[in-house]
Amino acid sequence: MIMPGPLTPSKCSRYVKVFFRAFEQTRRHRCLSHSGRSDAFIRSFIAENTETTGEQSLTPELRLRLFTPNCRFWRERPELWPFDDPYWAIYWPGGQALSRYVLDNPGVCLGKTVLDLGSGCGASAIAAKLCGAAHVVANDIDTVAAVATHMNCELNGLEPPVCVSDNMIGSEPEHFDLIFLGDMFYDEVLATSLHSWLDRCIKTHGTEVLIGDPGRAQFEGHGIRRLLHQLAQFELPESVREENYGLTCSSVWRYHPEL
Ligand SMILES: C[S@@+](CC[C@H](N)C(=O)[O-])C[C@H]1O[C@@H](n2cnc3c(N)ncnc32)[C@H](O)[C@@H]1O
Repeated sequence: MIMPGPLTPSKCSRYVKVFFRAFEQTRRHRCLSHSGRSDAFIRSFIAENTETTGEQSLTPELRLRLFTPNCRFWRERPELWPFDDPYWAIYWPGGQALSRYVLDNPGVCLGKTVLDLGSGCGASAIAAKLCGAAHVVANDIDTVAAVATHMNCELNGLEPPVCVSDNMIGSEPEHFDLIFLGDMFYDEVLATSLHSWLDRCIKTHGTEVLIGDPGRAQFEGHGIRRLLHQLAQFELPESVREENYGLTCSSVWRYHPEL
């Protein structure tokens, strides 16, 4: 199983960084999986510790349960957090651009089978469902993300996608017409394993790949970067810029090499 390094995308805001650093430091004191916790417990925990928001993102039409400075754990001692790092509680700029692109170009998903890999809060999977995808799978190795995705689908009046928590990277490629990767190029080892697995998916099933990334160093410096075709670029809203210190834009790229 390929595990990424510390999950701290560079260039996020000072307060998001402080938040995740605190989580990093206390990780060994916390329970690393939600095994033993019922979905009902996780649901009520998410409901109590997130805020319904989204209007300040690139996709104001999507409602999502996310961390905001109004939430208890913005100030609370992180060792009291009962789960793994809450990446599902942030709507990352790569995922925002990808979801915006899909909502603006619904034909991209119409009737397709879609895998949103590293789905986090599930926003891109939700966008695919809204745009008429025939079948959507949201995959995130954090099992809490699956519960958050279910709750976010309910907020948007949608049936949830199939949520898978296994690490699919490196596994035998399944047939998907389309794979979404929102902000998944934040770690070099992860990016490299992802790249070779994507090549296998494309070779075996002719899968199309769409990547959303705000220009992180690990993405810009990776070998896959020069093989991509830019489809769209979005200026990040002011509040997203503030939360993602130093980032101003986020782009969507198509990966479809001749293999
Ligand atoms: C930076 S977040 C992006 C989330 C979402 N795509 C977005 O843009 O808002 C990266 C997510 O990838 C997940 N992840 C990391 N490694 C993974 C793997 N090998 N397979 C599936 N998900 C993974 C993390 O748990 C996290 O939720």
